[in-house]
Amino acid sequence: MNPMESRIILGCMRIAALEATELRQLVETSLAEGVNFFDHADVYGKGRCEELFGEILAGNPGLRENIVIQTKCGIRPGLYDFSKEHILRSVEQSLRRLKTDYVDVLLLHRPDTLMEPEEVAEAFTTLEAAGKVRWFGVSNHHVMHIELLQKWLPQKLRFNQLQFGPAHTGIIDAGINVNLYNDRAVDRDGGILEYCRLKGITIQAWSPLQFGFFKGVFLGHPDYAELNRVLERIGEEQGVTPAAVAIAWILRHPAQMQVVVGTTNACRVKELSQAEQVSLTREQWYEIYRAAGNKLP
Ligand SMILES: NC(=O)c1ccc[n+]([C@@H]2O[C@H](COP(=O)([O-])OP(=O)(O)OC[C@H]3O[C@@H](n4cnc5c(N)ncnc54)[C@H](OP(=O)(O)O)[C@@H]3O)[C@@H](O)[C@H]2O)c1
Repeated sequence: MNPMESRIILGCMRIAALEATELRQLVETSLAEGVNFFDHADVYGKGRCEELFGEILAGNPGLRENIVIQTKCGIRPGLYDFSKEHILRSVEQSLRRLKTDYVDVLLLHRPDTLMEPEEVAEAFTTLEAAGKVRWFGVSNHHVMHIELLQKWLPQKLRFNQLQFGPAHTGIIDAGINVNLYNDRAVDRDGGILEYCRLKGITIQAWSPLQFGFFKGVFLGHPDYAELNRVLERIGEEQGVTPAAVAIAWILRHPAQMQVVVGTTNACRVKELSQAEQVSLTREQWYEIYRAAGNKLP
């Protein structure tokens, strides 16, 4: 990871409903807490999230070069589209909305099975040569998607954004349950965690506090009573909130992941950023994993 990139990323998927003053406060608090990496996508709020963020940038000369802006492309209504034409058009529109000349990182949002890797390579090379994108990555991609892309791309894919948190542990379950017949032994991601570690690809854990696919936040949820009890107890011991312990649980993994938090509340950013000061023992880490309902073989 570049030293400029914070390990906690502020996800901007939910900012569309914020007033300009609230968003300014969210961004200012993030920066004050050392969170300088902001995650967008062309589709968040149908472009509104990038637009609002662009207004903050326009009103704060000097801010742009002190932050890392990431956006994504490739999702269209009812389909995925990694064609050269779509990638180039999407980035142009994102730059216009964000009111900037470049994004630091561009991710391909969800695998497009009709992808032609040669076309993606042409699009990335055009964007890189024009100074419109500095680094590239993917999101929700498994090992062979990355291998296929990387065969043609001259650029190294530096990031893979994947859902991961105490209540969504798919990327580690199969590795813990190797050689067993239970459901958790099913390898749904092709060993993506180990692959990213081997290749030096930083995993960005999205929706760290959610369970299921946007089913809700596990904090305070009755289905996760044991997990909440353990997070609260460790939080009390370390003087932080249960949410911060949950984020610390992700940061503690030796894969050195980044965590994409999606709060729109400046006070919560402050609380969550305390995660970087929490140190979890191996015993506590596995206790949290088990408390979320996972069994060790
Ligand atoms: N690559 C992908 O496919 C993909 C998919 C989904 C998301 N993402 C990225 O990941 C980011 C995070 O996703 P997410 O928003 O689902 O993540 P999250 O951080 O797990 O959830 C944030 C949501 O939880 C709420 N929340 C309730 N209690 C909270 C507490 N104590 N602390 C913090 N938040 C609490 C927040 O409400 P308040 O706002 O009121 O705090 C907010 O609605 C997105 O913004 C986006 O950038 C990527």
